[in-house]
Amino acid sequence: MPVTTFIVDTHERLLPGWPVIGNALEIPKTHAWLKFTEWADEYGPIYQIQAFGTTLVIISKESIANDLLGLRGAIYSDRPALVMPRLISDDGFLGAIGWTDYWRRARRFTQSMLSTANIQQSVPKQTTEARQMVVDLAKSPSRYAYWLERAGVMTSVKQIYGLTEERGGHAEERHVHEIVSYMEEIDRVAVPGAYLVEFIPALLRLPTWLAPFKREAKVLVRRHWEYFELLMQQKSKKHVMNSDVSFARRFLKSKDDWGLSDREIVWVLSSIYGGASGTSATAMQSIILNTCLFPEWQQRIQNEIDEVVGGNRLPDMDDFASMPTVRAVIKESMRWRPVLSGGFPHAVTKDDVYEGYHIPKGAIIIPNQWAILREEQLYPDADSFKPERWLEPKYPTYQEPLTMYPNLKRFAGFGHGRRICPGLEVTEKSLFLQMSNLYWACNITRAKDENGREVDIPWYDYTGVAISTPHPFRFAVEEREEGRLKMMEQSALTEHEAEMTLVRTL
Ligand code: HEM
Repeated sequence: MPVTTFIVDTHERLLPGWPVIGNALEIPKTHAWLKFTEWADEYGPIYQIQAFGTTLVIISKESIANDLLGLRGAIYSDRPALVMPRLISDDGFLGAIGWTDYWRRARRFTQSMLSTANIQQSVPKQTTEARQMVVDLAKSPSRYAYWLERAGVMTSVKQIYGLTEERGGHAEERHVHEIVSYMEEIDRVAVPGAYLVEFIPALLRLPTWLAPFKREAKVLVRRHWEYFELLMQQKSKKHVMNSDVSFARRFLKSKDDWGLSDREIVWVLSSIYGGASGTSATAMQSIILNTCLFPEWQQRIQNEIDEVVGGNRLPDMDDFASMPTVRAVIKESMRWRPVLSGGFPHAVTKDDVYEGYHIPKGAIIIPNQWAILREEQLYPDADSFKPERWLEPKYPTYQEPLTMYPNLKRFAGFGHGRRICPGLEVTEKSLFLQMSNLYWACNITRAKDENGREVDIPWYDYTGVAISTPHPFRFAVEEREEGRLKMMEQSALTEHEAEMTLVRTL
């Protein structure tokens, strides 16, 4: 079927008196994906708009994203200039870097570290952190954002740097604070319109005293470097786990294989650490929110968990194949409320033609996930939360066998082509472990106010930046059966103690 392509008439959309700006003022600063989806209804699944002389190609259909970013990946795997994110990470943040030699070397290392075999070795650490998260969430549900973030951060700190820390201490808090700040800074400085230099690169030639953005970037880059470098050097020896599997150790043992300098590896590891921060925790927040909105799905998950696991042991990765309902709720949550709702931009390095449609060299390509994951043909009744679309043969997304599907492989929420998220498998495991352990031990319900009335859960109240996270919401956590949380706590404690013992004996 031919794809309908439209070019938005830029003259029609140009604001009078601002020829350079193009459509820039019409692009909302937050939740741009909603506007882009509206325009797709009018102009079709691929259209272009102009901002400050740059062409933006907005894609709203998965097959087009795969054709361009996947099949034509040789020319569609660059990134937009993103001056500020690159300045504050010393040109080292993998996600923001262009199609360069550094990207190729860094990506090769990253993919190798996050290979299926390596990831398998991290499962015990992920399991411990998932269980600790459940225990803390039950004790103090209002701090949910912190507990979810900490689970991901402490898994990363162990997996990437081979470090472990005292439970609940200052060191854990510092790790969470530093990595979250790093990613928030990148998010903040990447917002279109936040810095003029993004549109007028010539400003980069200004001396620092005339360019406040350069001074700001210098302060930030120093702060981030100091933290990441410290981790890499594993200076605080008493915290070093006697583990040969951390990414830092693997690098040090086979330095010559990777072609990465001592400076570069610090930034590569920070990119893996940063990529994991915020993303899985946001997905987990959406899952919790959705089980409050749709308690019938919570019941179905718990029925499945009870049937497979029973009450005498805790869920673990070996249960993955037997729990399609848990996997369906994870996948549907990530479809309905995509973590990177606006997609992650690519850029094209050569002029190209797609179905007769001209795409100029340098154009920014935006795979708008909000629209892509709402394509009616693939996802009938796309605006509804329907985990059954992954479980019942009447839906186009159904795949057999259910011991394997649904899963997150090739899911558009993780991007496309050569830049596809290398952390997909880690994410799949950590969400499964967190979810199965949480709903094994607890019920999540709507919170009650002082008059005993249920507090409303918002339908769609999410932040409007790159990682789109639910605004704070209230819910209650109760133990399903006495003793379950005790078992959970005991398991998390025993595993953590074993890791700490290794540290002490070093
Ligand atoms: C819910 C979880 C996650 C989601 C939804 C997600 C999504 C994405 C997306 C959409 C991209 C851009 C892909 C593209 O350009 O086409 C990306 C890139 C990336 N992600 Fe993830 N991600 C998640 C978790 C992780 C984790 C756990 C890690 C690390 C362990 C990670 C590391 C990275 C890195 C390093 C990149 C940059 C890749 C490159 O530019 O070559 N992500 N992710």
